[in-house]
Formats: sequence, C-alpha cells, structure tokens
Amino acid sequence: MGFDSSADQASIAALRRGIELGMTVIDTAEMYAGGRAEELVGKAIKGFDRDELFIVTKVWPSHARYDDVLKAAAASSRRLGTYIDLYLLHWPSSEVPICETMRAMEKLVEMGLIRHIGLSNFGVKGIEEARACLKNNDIAAVQNRFSPLYKKDYYDVILYAQREGMMYMAYTPIEKGVLAGNDLLRRIGEKYGKTPIQVALNWLICIEPVVPIPKASRIEHVEENAGAMGWRLSREDFEEILNKL
Ligand SMILES: NC(=O)c1ccc[n+]([C@@H]2O[C@H](COP(=O)([O-])OP(=O)(O)OC[C@H]3O[C@@H](n4cnc5c(N)ncnc54)[C@H](OP(=O)(O)O)[C@@H]3O)[C@@H](O)[C@H]2O)c1
Repeated sequence: MGFDSSADQASIAALRRGIELGMTVIDTAEMYAGGRAEELVGKAIKGFDRDELFIVTKVWPSHARYDDVLKAAAASSRRLGTYIDLYLLHWPSSEVPICETMRAMEKLVEMGLIRHIGLSNFGVKGIEEARACLKNNDIAAVQNRFSPLYKKDYYDVILYAQREGMMYMAYTPIEKGVLAGNDLLRRIGEKYGKTPIQVALNWLICIEPVVPIPKASRIEHVEENAGAMGWRLSREDFEEILNKL
C-alpha cells in the first residue's frame, strides 16, 4: 500500500461520496496522471458492491496495436483491482488500423477482462468502421465532448447512438465549471430551486442515451452535481437551452 497525498485522499473521499449518492458510472483512463487515477479509483471503490458500479477506462492510441491493447488492459485492471465494465479506445489512431485494435478488444471480452467495447472522440463514420470489424461484439458506447454549450454531436452521433442502442457518454459536460455562471441556466434553475450546474446536467440526462460524466474533486461539487438527478426540466425549458445557449 503506497502513501496517499492529501490531494489523493480528497479525491478518494469525493469519489466515495459520489458513489454513495448514486453516481456509479466511474470514468478514468490509463493516461490520466500516468495510471495514478486508476489506482485512486481502485482504492475508492473498496467496500462498495462491485455489481452496482460501472467502471470505464481507456487505452491511449499509442497502445492501439493488438499486443499493446492486451498489455494496457491488464495493467489498467491491475491498477483498478477489478475487471473493466467498458473499455474505450481513447482517440482514433492515425497509425494502427481500427480492425487490429477491435480484434484485441474482442480478445479481452473473451478473456473476461472487459465486459463491453467502446470508442472515444469518434464520429459516425469511425464508429461504423469499428463496428464492421467486430465479429462477436458490438460498440456499446461512445464518449465524446458534449454540453449545453458544445452541442456538435446533437444531430448526428447522439441520434445515431439512440437509434443503434448505444450509450453516449458526455465529457466536459459542465464546461469545466464555466456553466456555473451562465445566466440562462440560472434563470431556468430558479423555477426549480436548482443551480445552473444542476440544470445543465439535467438537460443532458433528458437526452435519451446521454450519460454526463462531470469531474468533481470537491465534495460540495459532488453533492451539488448529484442534485441534478431525481427531477426533470420541462420540454419548454429543454428547448430553450437547446436553441438559445
Ligand atoms: N474521452 C476524452 O477524451 C475525455 C476528455 C476530457 C474529459 N474526459 C472525461 O470527462 C470528465 C469530465 O470532463 P472535464 O474534467 O474536462 O470537465 P467538466 O466535468 O465539465 O468540469 C470539471 C471542472 O468543473 C468543476 N466542477 C465540478 N462540479 C462543479 C460544480 N457543481 N460547480 C462548479 N464547478 C464544478 C470541477 O472542480 P473540482 O474538481 O474542483 O470539484 C472541475 O474543475 C473527466 O474527468 C474525464 O473522465 C474525457
């Protein structure tokens, strides 16, 4: 057992608070803090019912070759101390053919190290290319940047994911906290007794396959973000954010 800094302890506490509040999808990656983030997730999940958690991690494109994907997944799983629910190719690789990476992903499913295969930072064309490579599995999820301010995927990747039954994970969903100061979100939130960030996250979960993954290392942020769940924006307010923000 290594020594955790106070920042590590705070991150572990924030993660554990999030899990207690029902935020059970945990997103990490081999490249976050050079593997350290996966180790912290491994520590934070200790004592929780593993079946209640959905752990997502990612392989960096420099490890997209067949053997490297197998090694990277084994190393991630070791750091996490558990199997991986969803394993994503973090970004498309300009060097390694997607079918080589997908072949390794299928091997990992067969080995029981990962449960589902996914892609990050892919458009519809790239998703279709990857799906065409897969023999016994399908792409279960795509993770791209998406927020009430950054809606590029709304009319293509999200519609595609919805139609094809894929999960869509929205990263940078609160624009790194900037949405906390947004006037439209504040005005709408006043009607519900909710903060601008809670409105932003609720707007995202109103969209059928979207799962927002806000990062929060401060407990008060985790608690505020959890207040995005358990209620719903009206259709009118949803549309206003869609069209005016
Ligand atoms: N696949 C990819 O290529 C990719 C790229 C980027 C991110 N991601 C994933 O997406 C996650 C989130 O994205 P992100 O970190 O870029 O952006 P984000 O979630 O939009 O913003 C995180 C920032 O917002 C702050 N924050 C959290 N809750 C808040 C609240 N209620 N009020 C005010 N500020 C709040 C956090 O502060 P504190 O930490 O101080 O609480 C942090 O500085 C990452 O952790 C990562 O897992 C994936």
